[in-house]
Amino acid sequence: MPSLEPLFLNDERRKTSLATGFTGQDILSVSQFDRESLEHVFTRAHEMRELVDRAGYSNLLKGYILTCLFYEPSTRTSASFIAAMERLGGSVIPITQGVQFSSVSKGETLADTVRTLEQYSDVIVLRHPEIGSARVAADYSAVPIINAGDGAGEHPSQALLDLFTIQQEMGRIDGLKIAMVGDLRFGRTVHSLTKLLVQYDVSLRFVSPEILRLPLVLMNEVKDAGLNVRETHDVADVIENADVLYVTRVQKERFNDLTQYEEVRGQYEITTELLERAKAKMVVMHPLPRVGEIHYSVDSDPRAAYFRQVKNGMFIRMALLAMVLGKA
Ligand code: ASP
Ligand code: CP
Repeated sequence: MPSLEPLFLNDERRKTSLATGFTGQDILSVSQFDRESLEHVFTRAHEMRELVDRAGYSNLLKGYILTCLFYEPSTRTSASFIAAMERLGGSVIPITQGVQFSSVSKGETLADTVRTLEQYSDVIVLRHPEIGSARVAADYSAVPIINAGDGAGEHPSQALLDLFTIQQEMGRIDGLKIAMVGDLRFGRTVHSLTKLLVQYDVSLRFVSPEILRLPLVLMNEVKDAGLNVRETHDVADVIENADVLYVTRVQKERFNDLTQYEEVRGQYEITTELLERAKAKMVVMHPLPRVGEIHYSVDSDPRAAYFRQVKNGMFIRMALLAMVLGKA
């Protein structure tokens, strides 16, 4: 295993609030969002849902161009950013089908690639395997960079859509018992969601194999916030009380030693039998893709929210694009 302790971004200079506004801002870390600005994003996302339901399309971002620059595979994040931009009337330069077809394969650096793409576009969405890569890109780019996953670091737009989904499904965030299951060490969605949840009055339960526990720096943030928190290896310890069960994939691509991956994969599977012990009103979430963590028979359970979560991603990304481009 790499001795990887994520270097989380806590750059106060980049803190976004309603006071400073979102126009022209990079979205690099969830630490940029306070509760007021989260509510603002969620209100804009609601408006985007209404817009899509009513008309499907608007010209709000007509004339604007988004570049999607993905150095790692993606289905949801890339497709939903593209859908978001196009539903708002904008256009997309899609470098999402493998950077091997771009000049990255000739050895071009991230800095030069970003400095090139900013000449053509108004905003860049970047996914990259290295922690801190989005900040590097932002340091070189005059147009906003939106972090779509920097290695095992963060995935802020995912955490925004996760929190939005919790609020939509459960009607509130404060007072909930939230259990996160799986790869808490390398799972960037877990990192970002945890950093958002410390702003709320929630109980957190972290369920993982020993080697995939939540990074210490994040656990300290949770404890410093005074939240009720416990760690366990067994999902049975949390299933009866959880209001939110947030399940994740073991991040195979982060392991140097695949034998260690084989030891921990498949440790958790959410089944209909397990859910019989869960509350009638609770929600099962997953950032996806799933590779065996949730049995397909769970999909027809009304508590299974992962595809509604996927759709929320488009509304959140429509809101983010409109906001950073000064149109919200
Ligand atoms: N799609 C999410 C991510 O890119 C979760 C995952 O891949 O397991 O972080
Ligand atoms: N949830 C998520 O980031 O999915 P993709 O990896 O498919 O973009």
